Amino acid sequence: MITIALSKGRIFEETIPLLRAAGIEVLEDPEKSRKLILTTNQPNVRVLVVRASDVPTYVQYGGADLGITGKDTLLEHGSHGLYQPLDLKIAKCRISVAVRADFDYASAVKQGSRLRVATKYVAISREFFAAKGVHVDLIKLYGSMELAPLVGLSDAIVDLVSTGNTLKANHLVEVEHIMDISSRLVVNQAALKLKQAPIRKIIDAFASAIGQ
Ligand code: PRP
Repeated sequence: MITIALSKGRIFEETIPLLRAAGIEVLEDPEKSRKLILTTNQPNVRVLVVRASDVPTYVQYGGADLGITGKDTLLEHGSHGLYQPLDLKIAKCRISVAVRADFDYASAVKQGSRLRVATKYVAISREFFAAKGVHVDLIKLYGSMELAPLVGLSDAIVDLVSTGNTLKANHLVEVEHIMDISSRLVVNQAALKLKQAPIRKIIDAFASAIGQ
């Protein structure tokens, strides 16, 4: 059995064509079903529906043989024990610093004042601001980061930006682009040895589907 861990939403949708290129059709729609283990047209391939931030954990401990997860999640989680053969170039977005349109970020940074930053990307933010020599108090949140500057919880946020619509709707502006993000294929290293042929077949099909 080959087990693939995916998260619902954009990653799932953008993975469907890659799975198809590997001859795998998922037979259930995770948006319509509450089932967490989805069957496919291949009796020996199944798909797990897990939280995006849990994909590396499932693959690391062998709960899944393969997974697809954002570079953001891998950087926060760490990638110990994970083989990362491919950048799939899907679910592309960026991690940025954003503030209220009326907050003078440039002056705050220049004056060396402590910046309060709300984010779920604590590790990425710590490293980014340390490299700039900016002192920050990091406030860990689990979602809806955009709210924090609006209610005075923080001066800035570090979050994913895709279309920019969420920032705009909440009167926030992007002031720093930290890094570009896309999703990666991750593989359990022991599974790669024990189930080499079927896993290689999937990696190769994905690679040719994305033109690598
Ligand atoms: C992400 C991110 C932003 C939004 C950005 O949230 O946290 O809120 O998408 O997208 P946009 O630039 O196209 O508006 P998501 O909807 O993935 O949910 P999350 O808060 O659970 O991460």
